[in-house]
Amino acid sequence: MSATKRIRAIDYPRSGVVEVLDQRLLPLRERTITCRCGEEVAIAIEEMALRGAPLIGVAAAMGIAVEMDQAKWDSAQQRHACFTTICSRMLQTRPTAVNLAWAVERMRQAYGKLQEKSDVEMLAGLQTEARQIMEEDWQMNLAMGEHGASLIKDGDVVLTHCNTGSLATGGHGTALGVIRSAVQGGKKIRVLVDETRPYLQGARLTSWELQQEGIEATLIADSMAAHCMQKGMVNMVIVGADRIAMNGDVANKIGTYNLSILAKEHQIPFYVAAPSSTIDPNCIAGSDIPIEERAEEEITHYHGHRVAPKGIPVYNPAFDVTPAANIAAIITERQILLPPLGSALAKLMQEIRECHSI
Ligand code: MRU
Repeated sequence: MSATKRIRAIDYPRSGVVEVLDQRLLPLRERTITCRCGEEVAIAIEEMALRGAPLIGVAAAMGIAVEMDQAKWDSAQQRHACFTTICSRMLQTRPTAVNLAWAVERMRQAYGKLQEKSDVEMLAGLQTEARQIMEEDWQMNLAMGEHGASLIKDGDVVLTHCNTGSLATGGHGTALGVIRSAVQGGKKIRVLVDETRPYLQGARLTSWELQQEGIEATLIADSMAAHCMQKGMVNMVIVGADRIAMNGDVANKIGTYNLSILAKEHQIPFYVAAPSSTIDPNCIAGSDIPIEERAEEEITHYHGHRVAPKGIPVYNPAFDVTPAANIAAIITERQILLPPLGSALAKLMQEIRECHSI
């Protein structure tokens, strides 16, 4: 039901080639990087040429397939070693978004079923699985958009954080997908875009995506959110997620937790939109979620220029954890989960397990 051109953040057009839209240069330049092996995809993930939880899962899957496309082996053991090595490499790239480990596990399961097959059949099977992960993510986002749009009223102003659009997913987006679906459904809404320090995903990427589609948006610095809420300028907050614990705690871009506290203080609903691949059944609570720490230059420098004095110690966590108690609902591709989120998540995961065992 996407009415606009689908922005493709990654593509696997043919055997041996993965193309990545280099998000580090957006919005000033649109450049595509060509990755011809798994290591090049792993570096693209680590160096943020592409980012966003669902998208790095898609990229890891494509990276595994493209590595197998070009690797050489003399025996079944070597082929197997090659596969397990590239899976481990992908898992080392970024720690917080569980979609990455989820996608690697899907590739492992696909490989398990293809193990007795010829090289040609195995490679074709892995390519199909990687492309399928992307298509399914896109479909999940469209479904999530439909559910989530029902929460938005005509005339609403929605505050969002980080980038959760086509650039962060297989297409359409999670939180931004909900906004897109509401607009495509005829609602006139306005988006307040948090700039999202320090990496500026909001200023650079979300603003760009919204402009591409003509969705009305206003950019604010993160520190302005409280003021905007106090002034009655915000009807709801919608964000994405990098990992959802089974008690409903949510890890997302640093600054999300602040927003949840502000929303609570101002009685503004705070929603999370995420596909079920973001729910970690092995993670009991938010305190179990590993938080990535990134390079100090992201804080000490601005556009390549130093703005902080040399030698100042820096702490740069890329994500924070919003407690379940601050979340009004989690929008998934299957349904909108309402508090108590722990039992809603347990029920959803049980349904998914039953669905897979049929
Ligand atoms: O560091 P990033 O840019 O990969 O972080 C992305 C986010 O935190 C998004 O909000 C999250 O992945 C949900 S996006 C679909």
